[in-house]
Amino acid sequence: MGEQPTFADLNRRADIDAQLRPRSLDQFVGQERVRNNLSIAIEATKKRGETLDHVLLSGLPGLGKTTLAHVIAQELGVEVRITSGPALERTGDLVGMLSTLKRGDILFIDEVHRLPRVLEEYLYSAMEDYAIDLVLDQGPAARSVRLTLERFTLIGATTREGLLSGPFRSRFGLLEKLDLYPHADLVRIVERSAALLDSRIDAAALELVASRARGTPRVANRLLRRLRDLALVRGRDVIDSPVAREAFAHLAIDDRGLEETDRRILRCLERLGGGPTGLKTVAAAVGEEEDTLESVYEPYLLSLGFLERTPRGRKITPAGLGHLGIKSDGANARFP
Ligand SMILES: Nc1ncnc2c1ncn2[C@@H]1O[C@H](COP(=O)(O)OP(=O)(O)OP(=O)(O)O)[C@@H](O)[C@H]1O
Ligand SMILES: [Mg+2]
Repeated sequence: MGEQPTFADLNRRADIDAQLRPRSLDQFVGQERVRNNLSIAIEATKKRGETLDHVLLSGLPGLGKTTLAHVIAQELGVEVRITSGPALERTGDLVGMLSTLKRGDILFIDEVHRLPRVLEEYLYSAMEDYAIDLVLDQGPAARSVRLTLERFTLIGATTREGLLSGPFRSRFGLLEKLDLYPHADLVRIVERSAALLDSRIDAAALELVASRARGTPRVANRLLRRLRDLALVRGRDVIDSPVAREAFAHLAIDDRGLEETDRRILRCLERLGGGPTGLKTVAAAVGEEEDTLESVYEPYLLSLGFLERTPRGRKITPAGLGHLGIKSDGANARFP
């Protein structure tokens, strides 16, 4: 306890993640619209014997973008090569990956909004014409060589769709956005994961996990693993609500799934008088990166209606104040 995780621990955790990952569209819970669109496109592609149109998957961290990319490959029966925007630095990195793809294969680029601009432009012609024009040499000797590629499918995943350039975005034939999962879907996800992990969890504990999962399957699975650990340590063979409540108390996760950082954000906005506060100020006050605040913490606070984004900055709402136990007229409910 309290020691650094060993290599075996890390492997075991990766195994659990892999074990819980849905393998087919049928196993993928929720997101009906996305699932339908993909399933039609996949079926049509197979019937015509063509390759799938390029797909852009956008949505907050942990909603299932990487999972879907694997599911699509599985359903099509093709191979998937995986890379990410920040990992591709030089033209050669990208060309190397593209040229090894066989007809119909998938190139999955995670965090595609972080792809260097130059490479993005190479991708344009790769996506449209399945060819890349490479410029060799410089000055008067410069000449361009056309490298033809097999017809492939690009699947891009992004947590920040807004950062993608218009021309890039428009080259994807399927643009699918994943939303936060409603409570009922999270209940199904936790139920499924518990079954896969051979853990028994009762209905009350299921509800407790789902309502603290921040609309996010990855969080739901993480919470389930913590509850499962505690149940084992406490010698219970079923995860029930006393175990769940004790685990959430240890994790300092409240009844809406807020963690300490979320509460610090709300308290900071409240201290600053409830008026609009710039992102920089909030980031400095809570000691987090602006980017992390925007893409991890704020979306969930916004979805709960605890936070409001205005052109002049962030504001805490009456509901947010209520959650802190403060009445919106300034009177403090905890210390009347
Ligand atoms: N619809 C779903 N049904 C069941 N489990 C899901 C679903 N979506 C995601 N999961 C589970 O949540 C975990 C996180 O999903 P995934 O890694 O695909 O998220 P992501 O969108 O790629 O996140 P990131 O932006 O951080 O890369 C997966 O390991 C998977 O087990
Ligand atoms: Mg991912």
